[in-house]
Amino acid sequence: MINDNFKQKKIYVAPMLDWTDRHCRFFHRLLSPNAVLYTEMITTGAIIHGDTAKHLTYNEEEHPLVLQVGGSEPRDLEHCAKIAKQYNYDEINLNCGCPSERVQKGSFGACLMREAKLVGQCFTAMKQSGLEVSIKHRIGIDDINDYEFLYDFVNELHESGCRKFIVHARNAVLKGLSPKQNREIPPLKYDYVYRLKADFPQAHITVNGGINNIPDILIHLKNADAVMLGRSAYHTPYILNEIDNYIYNDRIILKDEIIEKLCDYSVEQFKKGVYIGAIIKHILGLYHGQKNSRLWRQHFSNSVLLKKIQNYQDIIEFFNQAGKLLLA
Ligand SMILES: Cc1cc2nc3c(=O)[nH]c(=O)nc-3n(C[C@H](O)[C@H](O)[C@H](O)COP(=O)(O)O)c2cc1C
Repeated sequence: MINDNFKQKKIYVAPMLDWTDRHCRFFHRLLSPNAVLYTEMITTGAIIHGDTAKHLTYNEEEHPLVLQVGGSEPRDLEHCAKIAKQYNYDEINLNCGCPSERVQKGSFGACLMREAKLVGQCFTAMKQSGLEVSIKHRIGIDDINDYEFLYDFVNELHESGCRKFIVHARNAVLKGLSPKQNREIPPLKYDYVYRLKADFPQAHITVNGGINNIPDILIHLKNADAVMLGRSAYHTPYILNEIDNYIYNDRIILKDEIIEKLCDYSVEQFKKGVYIGAIIKHILGLYHGQKNSRLWRQHFSNSVLLKKIQNYQDIIEFFNQAGKLLLA
């Protein structure tokens, strides 16, 4: 069963470590009332033994919001899912797609695709929380290129009751490529994801990888249930608003309106002790491709100016100055 709140949701913003923190998600939510937002991956160890509140606290506006976790120990994952439920996340997602060496050392991420039975146990344990549980994975690992490997992985989970899959349509390469390189090579194979949807019509299948424009999104939505955007949502965030306008007929939200709301948010966060640069760094792509956007970006990433901010009037002035640069 798929959570009713999610049935109509077509656009997901990917979990991205160091990028999709709560400030970034607040910004994305201003752009898109409809997108499903993901946290960065948080390990079970960090949730259980670290500063749980720091890792899991978010702004109410961020719903619908999915917590992505990294781990492979069913009891720890169950514990984390129960905590996520207390924090009122809308869903919990298990990372079976990250190829980094650090993650491999912890025996989770993409290497779990070789351990379908264990992932099934993790799923069953997480389900004890009562939260919707989804799995994000690749189409294969290393030189395993046959569709059957992917089919068997998903089938094992489907038999455990999992009905929600987010599929990054390229193989994970566990040795020889950095995670960054592995987001470009090997080539994407969307047809594998489409085949999954045909083979598991009851499952909710989201396609991910290299998607960055509305015409392509429309093609994907004919073959899968939803689309997940990663880097395009981060580097050219206004696409989120354009998509909402196109798909849901939502009104266009002007960039200046977004900036006004972000200025208020920055003031509010500053009063709580947040460094403004931690918010601003996520919005640098807002005016991408527009006249003077480079000047605007330089102003917002100027660490000397950022360090001079002492009070909330300075923040308002800082935003005003940026606005003037755009009009120059
Ligand atoms: C900076 C960065 C950090 C990422 N961190 C995560 C992560 O924490 N968990 C995860 O499942 N995928 C992570 N990814 C992968 C993305 O979720 C996504 O699958 C990948 O970027 C492909 O989508 P895209 O081509 O739309 O960017 C990350 C990607 C980037 C660029």
